[in-house]
Amino acid sequence: MIKKCLFPAAGYGTRFLPATKATPKEMLPILTKPLIQYGVEEALLAGISTMAIVTGRGKRAIEDHFDISYELEHQIKGGSKECLLDEIRALIEQCTFSYTRQIEMKGLGHAILTGETLIGREPFAVVLADDLCHNEEMGVLEQMIEVYEKYQCSVVAIEEIPLDQTHKYGVIAGKLVDGTDDTYRVKDMVEKPDPKDAPSNLAIIGRYILTPDIFDILKNTPAGKGGEIQITDALLEQAKQGNVIAYKFKGKRFDCGSVDGFVEATNWFYRKSK
Ligand code: G1P
Repeated sequence: MIKKCLFPAAGYGTRFLPATKATPKEMLPILTKPLIQYGVEEALLAGISTMAIVTGRGKRAIEDHFDISYELEHQIKGGSKECLLDEIRALIEQCTFSYTRQIEMKGLGHAILTGETLIGREPFAVVLADDLCHNEEMGVLEQMIEVYEKYQCSVVAIEEIPLDQTHKYGVIAGKLVDGTDDTYRVKDMVEKPDPKDAPSNLAIIGRYILTPDIFDILKNTPAGKGGEIQITDALLEQAKQGNVIAYKFKGKRFDCGSVDGFVEATNWFYRKSK
């Protein structure tokens, strides 16, 4: 059973400056809901109710969002707008939220390691909130948990990308598991390679299921691409033992870490809401 979901949320969101100067990028809204709330909803739909959030300086709005706002609730009680808080209230009731701060920004691997204190020794999910995923029938995390239950090892979600985009992602090489067309046993993985060095066009997106030995590996993982501790490098150690599955998820993904992806997501959710 996967019971906890880790949200690395300490990054600066520099691509959205000046909007992210005093507002966490995870709080930027797609329509009326902040990005991180979509991630929490996806985790809850997958049966996870313990949310572990790695924050940093300037991220308090995330904590306030997943809490009651007495003054506001008092103001709108009984009025026509009260229902606008129904969804977030239900989330707060069904989930617990715990937080720890990443003091120095040393990369995604380091952020995940910072979360060890909230996760402990059990397998857990990771959601990068700026990858917004949608699937009507079954959320991406829920799909991945099914895969985890079958293979009992770390799972990364992947998507085919144009080769000229490989420098933006962790890229895997693997062998299709017999009898499947969407599940690979990972043999190699490289963080943000140039197209000429990319082992395939299968890119990791911001959804992971990790086994807890990843923490021990991360403690010994040197800084890699960009001088940062990379989760891709730590996962490669597990992959060498045959312990990483890459799963081509069903559904849509929007890269809301970029302005183009953010606008695309906004338009798509807007049309869907009409
Ligand atoms: C991170 C990971 C990368 C992964 C990506 C998915 O990169 O390092 O391997 O493909 O998330 O969104 P970032 O987008 O944080 O630079």
